Amino acid sequence: MTDPRDPFKEARGKCPIHSTEFNGEDIPFVLGLKDLRKTAKDWQNFSSDHPFKVVPHTEEKMRSMRQIPIEMDPPDHTDYRALVEPFFKRPNDPAYIADMESLISSMVEEMLATDKVDAVHEFALPLQCRALTRLLNVPESEADIWKEWGLHALTEGEGLEEYTAEQFAKAESQPGDDFFSMLNQVEFRGRNLTLEEKQGIANVTFAGGKDTVINVVSSIIVYFAENKEALKTLRENEKNINTACEEFVRYVSPLTAIARTCPHGAQVGEQDIPAGGRVGLCWPSANRDETVFEKADEVVLDRIPNPHIGFGFGIHNCLGAPQARLIIRSLLKSLSEQVKSIELISAVPRMENEESYTRQVGYDQAVVKFS
Ligand code: HEM
Repeated sequence: MTDPRDPFKEARGKCPIHSTEFNGEDIPFVLGLKDLRKTAKDWQNFSSDHPFKVVPHTEEKMRSMRQIPIEMDPPDHTDYRALVEPFFKRPNDPAYIADMESLISSMVEEMLATDKVDAVHEFALPLQCRALTRLLNVPESEADIWKEWGLHALTEGEGLEEYTAEQFAKAESQPGDDFFSMLNQVEFRGRNLTLEEKQGIANVTFAGGKDTVINVVSSIIVYFAENKEALKTLRENEKNINTACEEFVRYVSPLTAIARTCPHGAQVGEQDIPAGGRVGLCWPSANRDETVFEKADEVVLDRIPNPHIGFGFGIHNCLGAPQARLIIRSLLKSLSEQVKSIELISAVPRMENEESYTRQVGYDQAVVKFS
């Protein structure tokens, strides 16, 4: 039976790339780890400089501005990324780590005190939103607004652009040390950023870091409910928290594909991509490449080495990775220290239904009882 999380398995065994179709456009997916790394690194021939086109389905109807820095190549990408990178590295700070651990520990405590909860809407979604208030350094009450946008800020939510425009205006009149004020004040090539640029940065921050984190968090909870002994492995050795974090990112790989456009035409494997054609970097397939990963279909909590590329590879590697890793590690720590077992009462997988494949990316609902 096809593993719903890895619909590319059969194709991967036959050919390094796999034909897929989005709105009638052929977008070959790069499937193997080695090919994918090579493609992601070669930004001159596999470009991100195409607004609305870095996702296989165009997002033209969902937002009005280019996302920054993801929809750019160097030198623009390099310069914009350098502006925001220090903010995205805040999760490496010891005080930030302690605060996140305390937040997640208290949320796990609440789960223990409740009869049964939906781990998606009552745990992972509020957790991701409350954690994001820490990253953006804004009041925690903002999380209540973001929760209303659902699991994905663009496909399910409404009002992101109006919200970010308001926040930049508010930060203009009352500057602080939050993300919006930082972007208002920062100097870029001798000038301030335009509202459109600032919103482009905020847009990918809200959209990129939402369902990805939620899907990994809910998948972790369901995994421990279905594998009763696994919490013990975490408790046995503190190092297993870090290896398990990487392994869940590899195994869940919540982002199925990000596209690149070939400005001059290119070759992937044996296939020629015409000038203007796109390819999809299929992270979950590369992360199951059986020529690289032993027991690729299994969660191996102490897997070392683990050369997964769930957070991307090359110049666009995930800016939110420190935040995502901290959330996942803090969750694993809390589960191993505070929870004896998790009972799964019911689960509804979250499926990505495309013309050429169907893939499980997480859960739409997972009712569980913690004890
Ligand atoms: C488990 C959670 C996450 C996964 C699996 C993930 C995955 C990825 C991947 C694969 C890329 C590379 C895109 C490319 O090559 O074009 C990426 C880039 C990015 N991610 Fe994440 N992401 C996660 C969480 C987050 C979070 C929490 C944020 C922000 C709050 C975020 C913000 C970004 C941004 C801004 C980029 C673009 C970086 C650039 O273009 O230089 N991500 N992410």
